[in-house]
Amino acid sequence: MTAMAPTRPVMPAHVHTPRPYTGPSRQEVLAMRRQFCHPSTFLYYREPLMVVEGHMQYLYDETGRRYLDFIAGIVTVSCGHSHPKFVERVQAQLATIQHTTTIYLHPNFPLLARRLAGKMPPGLDVTYFVNSGSEANDLAVLMARTFTGNNDIIAVRNGYHGGSPTSMGLTSHATWKFPVQVNQGVHHAINPDPYRSPFRGTPEEIASRSAADIRDLVRFSTPGRIAAFIAEPIQGVGGTTLGAPNYLREAYAIAREYGGLCIADEVQTGFGRTGDHFWGFEGSGVVPDIVTMAKGIGNGLPLAAVTTRREIAEALTQRIHFNTFGGNPISMAAGLAVLDIIEEEGLQDNSRVVGGRLKAGLQELMSRHRLIGDVRGKGLMLGAELVRDRETKEPATQETLAVWEAAREMGLLIGKGGIDGNVLRIKPPMCVTAADVDFALDVLDEALKRAER
Ligand SMILES: Cc1ncc(COP(=O)(O)O)c(C=O)c1O
Repeated sequence: MTAMAPTRPVMPAHVHTPRPYTGPSRQEVLAMRRQFCHPSTFLYYREPLMVVEGHMQYLYDETGRRYLDFIAGIVTVSCGHSHPKFVERVQAQLATIQHTTTIYLHPNFPLLARRLAGKMPPGLDVTYFVNSGSEANDLAVLMARTFTGNNDIIAVRNGYHGGSPTSMGLTSHATWKFPVQVNQGVHHAINPDPYRSPFRGTPEEIASRSAADIRDLVRFSTPGRIAAFIAEPIQGVGGTTLGAPNYLREAYAIAREYGGLCIADEVQTGFGRTGDHFWGFEGSGVVPDIVTMAKGIGNGLPLAAVTTRREIAEALTQRIHFNTFGGNPISMAAGLAVLDIIEEEGLQDNSRVVGGRLKAGLQELMSRHRLIGDVRGKGLMLGAELVRDRETKEPATQETLAVWEAAREMGLLIGKGGIDGNVLRIKPPMCVTAADVDFALDVLDEALKRAER
């Protein structure tokens, strides 16, 4: 009897023909990476993938092979790779004036700030633009400290807020920390994720007990007053973990009792990705004092922002604060194009509908595959945690790697995360279709079957 060839799901058709690639070979690129690039820049996959072109939700390697991108440049490509309208708008700006800094007037800077104010709850209407999520969180913390006169910050365990000295201090994962002195005065509260909580009870009870830990931290580890509480509405790098909606409501109330401002890190959850809402914090019915954003706001261009209330922003005017590229006309054009495309193409609604189909599909896979211990997230920000045993919840780290490699082999690119590297992270560009989702689910089904053999 001959062995059956492994099934290979068929990717939906797509109207784009990649240009013939004429640059250095994959081997040459790999050799240059190894010789000249900093060794801390790591590569995905046993056989690193070279990506030379993108179109909407698809990427192409140097041979013209197409891949469905379900991680979006780490949750950054919100509208689509080289989305034609985005390209047109950014190119037009590039050809007109590329850089001035905010020392001169240019319309794009206040235009984008005004558009963001229109997306925020009333009062959150002043924006400072920077270039990365880490910078945005640095600035948010600086403003909170300057405004309140307090130094201590409460962040949440398993959170990721960046790699600069200040944001590394906020981050709560040994994987991403170095043994150097970083942000002083940061304390990490118990995570409200019900799947791995030390507490027992309903998700709401776990959320309440986790929020109460903030009070303990303030009372035992700080001078009794804090500058801020910072949290991602859904933890991204941490493995798409989230508490019940009462978590942020109770956490914000406690932080405010002790003088703290509430910072929502919307670097991954913002711009409609969670489907039901434009901002992740809206899913919990809270209003932050400061919102930080990056990634999706620029669809791949270096753009990030901090939006807050005027009186908090004023605290930063007591000294000079400047950011050379913050507010530059090209990034601003990119941000304006992103907002237009999200609205015109209904991408938030697409995240809700297509994301709902994907989550239901993942839950169906969980009913058939013992490896999946938990499926969570909202809209197009989803995760599936793989465990060896549903009782002990032993992380299935090796199996996750196997599923991830097999998915790539079948043409599907996904991310992985969680402190044990056992969560499949699924966060595609928001333009994906139902047909893409069905293909991705078939690929994951097959990849899980292979890993369970
Ligand atoms: C929630 C969150 N905050 C902040 C950051 C840091 O952003 P950047 O890498 O642009 O500095 C990240 C990056 O992954 C993130 O996921």
